[in-house]
Amino acid sequence: MATDVHGPVSPKTADSASTAAVRVAGLTRSFGGRAVIDGLELTVRPGEFVALLGRSGCGKSTLLRVLAGLDREIEGEVSVPRRSAVAFQAPRLMPWKKVWRNVLLGLPGRPEREVAERALGEVGLSHRTDAWPKTLSGGEAQRASLARALVREPDLLLLDEPFGALDALTRIKAQRLVAELWRRRGCAVLLVTHDVEEALLLADRVLVMDEGVIAYETAIDLPRPRDIASPRFAALRARLLDRLGVEGPADDSLADGPAGGGLADAA
Ligand SMILES: Nc1ncnc2c1ncn2[C@@H]1O[C@H](COP(=O)(O)OP(=O)(O)OP(=O)(O)O)[C@@H](O)[C@H]1O
Ligand SMILES: [Mg+2]
Repeated sequence: MATDVHGPVSPKTADSASTAAVRVAGLTRSFGGRAVIDGLELTVRPGEFVALLGRSGCGKSTLLRVLAGLDREIEGEVSVPRRSAVAFQAPRLMPWKKVWRNVLLGLPGRPEREVAERALGEVGLSHRTDAWPKTLSGGEAQRASLARALVREPDLLLLDEPFGALDALTRIKAQRLVAELWRRRGCAVLLVTHDVEEALLLADRVLVMDEGVIAYETAIDLPRPRDIASPRFAALRARLLDRLGVEGPADDSLADGPAGGGLADAA
């Protein structure tokens, strides 16, 4: 389990890409003279599942956009696999294209419908292949968005609060789906979430972003599937909530709030 985010950085990004899925060194991103990301260091191993927590506005989405190659106005070094894919909180489906065409959107060449069908099958959406996006439920739209990411066969899957808008039950199903896809595909995952329990259920390692850097990290060496009721789970949850600046006793009452152990009150 990788625990060192401050390891030595090779200046040759092509070389370092072979030993790490993500390698970020001295990353700075400013808006109007304010550094939102400020000398950030990060390494993610191939196949590693990393969750990223942090207060609202601390720069998580900014970091993900940089890793996804959507923002290049940066200082520092960023190395990611050639095949990366991103899914955002809002599914961002084109309303005038059927689901399967949405899944293939932006893929190079002229991919066959079967490629979309396979990915939709993986997320349990085969029956919605020909549907229009506006007829999908929230959970279905989220799964379509996931299929669109999977179709790229990514070595790095970037997920920005993909379950944020889902009801509790759909959210649990979506979490299980991501866990299973990750196991099957073996890609590295960087999941941004506000939900401490979600991070602890899914990740090999949890990071906390603060003041523009990775301010804290901890390896989650609990066996899978994880038992939310276990004392070790509770201890890790308490420690993370503490790091996130959530006030009060670190007991179960914290996890029973509306955010399910999340950061709504801390943000
Ligand atoms: N294009 C932009 N122009 C100006 N400021 C920006 C821009 N994008 C982000 N910011 C600012 O950078 C900071 C970090 O934003 P970011 O979206 O990365 O936060 P976040 O950690 O993802 O928050 P949340 O948890 O609420 O999604 C915020 O203060 C935001 O206003
Ligand atoms: Mg965000």
